[in-house]
Amino acid sequence: MAIAPLTEREEKVKPRQDFNTFADEYAQFRKIDPPVLEDLLTRGNINAESVVLEVGCGTGNYLTEISARTHALCYGLDPAEKMLSQARANPHANGIQWRIGYARHLDFPDEMFDLVYTVDVSHHIQHRLTYYQEAMRVLKPGGKVCTVTDSEWIISHREPLATYFPETIAVNLARYPTTHELLAEKAAAGFVNIVEKMAEYPYMLYDPAGYRQKAYSSLHLIDEAAWRRGLAHLEADLQNGPMLCHSYYLLIWGEKAA
Ligand SMILES: C[S@@+](CC[C@H](N)C(=O)[O-])C[C@H]1O[C@@H](n2cnc3c(N)ncnc32)[C@H](O)[C@@H]1O
Repeated sequence: MAIAPLTEREEKVKPRQDFNTFADEYAQFRKIDPPVLEDLLTRGNINAESVVLEVGCGTGNYLTEISARTHALCYGLDPAEKMLSQARANPHANGIQWRIGYARHLDFPDEMFDLVYTVDVSHHIQHRLTYYQEAMRVLKPGGKVCTVTDSEWIISHREPLATYFPETIAVNLARYPTTHELLAEKAAAGFVNIVEKMAEYPYMLYDPAGYRQKAYSSLHLIDEAAWRRGLAHLEADLQNGPMLCHSYYLLIWGEKAA
């Protein structure tokens, strides 16, 4: 099937937040969540023969690990050139193909990939159904799609973001698609065997620098006073020693019928 070129209107649409402006902070502070990586590898059934696409790959944290651990053929797509520059500069990211582009237009041939996935991206995609239809097109029969995101519950419980910066809860509830919407959109695009999985990762937080430098996009969306208040509280509590935190992610899997 020929790939339709972007319309003039689509060309003009920019991501809702421009990650070019905080690519350095992102690269420094945002790392993979180990249970998410494990689920992508195992449920995605990735091996050296696999062809994998990460949409909204950013600085390439997940793709670099997947490539190193499996030797799969890996492609990363993102609209923010500065995020991709960070990915390209990573000496461990050998052999990964980095492409500039948006989720709504996957400029790849039909039936090319075994796995197409996003991590922390679905709330930035303006036409998710188009994205899922594109994912369906570029997947091989039997290939899998995975959306890694925050559910409504996670948005309200993520530590320390929700606990120290509670103003992020309303901001994130407003901009993230609900789990119900994501399930319905995947089904509407024709995916089968749609399943949800929650990944929980307890970790020790030693340093508030990622929150001071706003490496989390919702910290750019709350007012400055709320951010300062939360940061002061977090810094004060960390003076007493490292803090046990919990990261949670929802993974929604679907499959293209064989
Ligand atoms: C929170 S970052 C996640 C990066 C990476 N997936 C990770 O987990 O480290 C969100 C990424 O989505 C990208 N993005 C924003 N709008 C997009 C769109 N419409 N299509 C694809 N990617 C998009 C941003 O440029 C940014 O790199």
